[in-house]
Amino acid sequence: MIHSLRGFRDLLPSDSTLFTRIEAAAREIFSLYGYREIRIPTIEPHELFVKSTGDTTDIVEKEMYAFTDQGGRHVALRPEGTPGVVRAYIELNLDQTGKNGKYYYIGNMFRAERPQAGRFREFEQIGAEHIGNPSPFADAETVAMLVKILEKAGVPGCSVELNSLGCADCRAAYRPILLGYLKTHVDALCEPCQKRLDQNPLRALDCKIDGPRLAVEAPALKLCPACADHFDRTQELLKLSGVDFKVNKNLVRGLDYYTRTVFEVKAGQLGSQDAVAGGGRYDDLVKSMGGPNAPATGWALGVDRVAMLIKDASRTDTAPQLFVVSASDDARLAAFKLLGELRAAGLSADFSNFELSLKSQLRSADRSGAAIALILGGDEIKNSSCAVKPLKEKAQQRTVPMAELLPELKKLFYA
Ligand code: HAM
Repeated sequence: MIHSLRGFRDLLPSDSTLFTRIEAAAREIFSLYGYREIRIPTIEPHELFVKSTGDTTDIVEKEMYAFTDQGGRHVALRPEGTPGVVRAYIELNLDQTGKNGKYYYIGNMFRAERPQAGRFREFEQIGAEHIGNPSPFADAETVAMLVKILEKAGVPGCSVELNSLGCADCRAAYRPILLGYLKTHVDALCEPCQKRLDQNPLRALDCKIDGPRLAVEAPALKLCPACADHFDRTQELLKLSGVDFKVNKNLVRGLDYYTRTVFEVKAGQLGSQDAVAGGGRYDDLVKSMGGPNAPATGWALGVDRVAMLIKDASRTDTAPQLFVVSASDDARLAAFKLLGELRAAGLSADFSNFELSLKSQLRSADRSGAAIALILGGDEIKNSSCAVKPLKEKAQQRTVPMAELLPELKKLFYA
């Protein structure tokens, strides 16, 4: 027997139903906010992620599925969607389309992290990128939209945490201060942090080992007046949008491209992998990747984690509304035809095997979770009628004339 790879899993119908529901909720909200879908490749040049996600991030240093393809190109399975969207924006000159720069994507991402509850090596993200708008209105709109999607998907008890990482100037001023501190406390740092100290001291703040301690002990970042104003206005606009949030000065995201506003949505019920979604502003990324000056903001939510949150709160399998049963040999064709008519009328209907006994078919009907079994036998065919047997309640089986069947069922399910 061949097993699936560690960290990779099959999504059975009870899960995939949830995924579809979350995706549908997101699509509905995206269209209200003027976002349109972009589909980007699963595999990109390795260099794309090195240059955007950042070569000193955990994702690029340790977690990428990178390989050399048949043509000798160094490629990688995408660990996140933002770099691909930015590449497409630049490559296809999307800044010149006159459109609003709002894109969403839904797709699987790959990170070779250590698998644990809520952490997979292949997982699905729903992401949003708003490219070309530098104002705090865009920050507030994206966060508010994320909250609306989570609400629509039925996610209970989430909290939004917000911080500002400042601009390149704030960080240039902060770098020597932080570096000075880290160098005097170098022995307390983990080995990878010691190694990348000069390259990217800020990364230590995001380190899973040293980060929590440094967030309390190390000197804090001071925002320049423009960044402080941007952060204040973002908060004001979030309040105006009715978004509940708290400022978390320790929130540093694990990707290199962020500037100014960063945020995460957390759900206590998820344990250590509690981030349901994360994102922020990336004002310099498009330009640094060779594109126009296009400040941007965005986020991605983890569909696997959202599905875990709503799983208990909902009925997950899709049961058909109706189950068609043939009670005699001469009714099989009529039963098969009826299935088609029901579906054409927008009613979900299933059957098992018309060639099996009535008892066996009724057992399958019960197992299917359908609300009603429709039974056709010799008498029903003769009288042009159908037996309607409720499966969920203790009501009597009735005979309904065929001509009245569809209108009656539609009224029952859709009135
Ligand atoms: P991220 O924080 O790396 O951000 O990922 C976003 C979300 O993806 C996380 O909050 C989490 O729910 C989910 N996720 C990440 N890794 C895993 C995993 N191994 N298993 C299950 N779920 C996972 C980004 O990816 C950025 N591209 C977000 C962004 C867009 N920033 C600006 N624009």
